[in-house]
Amino acid sequence: MKAAVIRKYGGPDTFRIEEVPERGPKAGEIKVRNVATSINPIDFKARKGYLFVVSGFRFPKILGADFAGVVEACGAGVRNFKPGDEVYGFTAAAGGKGALAESLCCKASVASAKPTSLDFEQAAALPLAASTAYRALTKEGGLTAGMRVLVVGATGGVGHFAVQIARISGAHVTGVCRSSGESAARELGCIDVIAYDRTDFRRSGQTFDLIFDAAGKYGFGACRALLTAQGTYVTTIPGPSIMLRRVLTASASGRKARFVAANSNDRDLSLMRQWCDEGRLKPLIDAVFPLEETRQAFERAESGRTRGKVVIRTGETSGSVGKAE
Ligand SMILES: NC(=O)c1ccc[n+]([C@@H]2O[C@H](COP(=O)([O-])OP(=O)(O)OC[C@H]3O[C@@H](n4cnc5c(N)ncnc54)[C@H](OP(=O)(O)O)[C@@H]3O)[C@@H](O)[C@H]2O)c1
Repeated sequence: MKAAVIRKYGGPDTFRIEEVPERGPKAGEIKVRNVATSINPIDFKARKGYLFVVSGFRFPKILGADFAGVVEACGAGVRNFKPGDEVYGFTAAAGGKGALAESLCCKASVASAKPTSLDFEQAAALPLAASTAYRALTKEGGLTAGMRVLVVGATGGVGHFAVQIARISGAHVTGVCRSSGESAARELGCIDVIAYDRTDFRRSGQTFDLIFDAAGKYGFGACRALLTAQGTYVTTIPGPSIMLRRVLTASASGRKARFVAANSNDRDLSLMRQWCDEGRLKPLIDAVFPLEETRQAFERAESGRTRGKVVIRTGETSGSVGKAE
């Protein structure tokens, strides 16, 4: 199979498109003929070597977490999928496990049936970012209808899903983004938008029941004064400060500090699928690149100028790929 391989940590030019051997699924795994993947910041953090504690120094590596494709084979004990099923999901978030390739094997438990209303490229944009937004708002943030929610990074990969999910849940959403993204943020569902390159949202004088710092740029201390008395701040970036704040604010009544950890599971992905198929949730695609242009795709994703998700097409949808004999 063809894959974007790295043989050392480094910049986007580290990727090489190579032919590498495929393997079959182990017990509990499915083998997926991968049609598309999308880039998450964890992929380029992994490529730069920031996650070496987890990813180690064994090369070559195939990075990439999000996948959307067709089940080709099932390992022993897999009962929920069969060859030919269209699936989506994401592999271990810490650097991913091989989605920048035409084929990958992953635990069956991280996959779910793909939304039928989306093509593979759209479906690949969802799993990690949408699941993170959903968990941040609900599991960590306790989102309920009528809440006043602030989403920081409202047009980003995670943020644009968070805006839509908060609106689906009946929240009043204020988005923070660059002024050039203002109309996109409103189209996603923001009632109010604060352009961070014009106004410091921390001086807006407004308060929120839930602040989701999808961009991970600010921190609990900077946002605390904007929270209502029982309000919650959730960030995408774990670190010693937020971990300590989380413990300190956990039991006391009052404002809470939390962080979100992505988790690929059928329950969350099924809900995303339902929302997509009902036309209520839609990925915003910034650009689509072929696997051969993985370097350019990462350069785009790392430019800080994207809106929504950068997708990489890893394979074809046509033919008898993955169909049961
Ligand atoms: N904990 C987890 O499990 C988890 C899961 C997924 C992602 N993450 C992390 O979450 C972060 C965001 O991921 P992503 O996929 O959404 O990245 P992304 O697509 O690159 O989006 C980043 C967003 O940050 C916004 N931003 C940049 N500087 C800002 C500022 N000063 N004030 C307000 N917004 C600012 C950008 O807005 P403009 O475009 O308007 O400038 C952009 O919308 C990354 O650090 C990623 O590693 C964590």
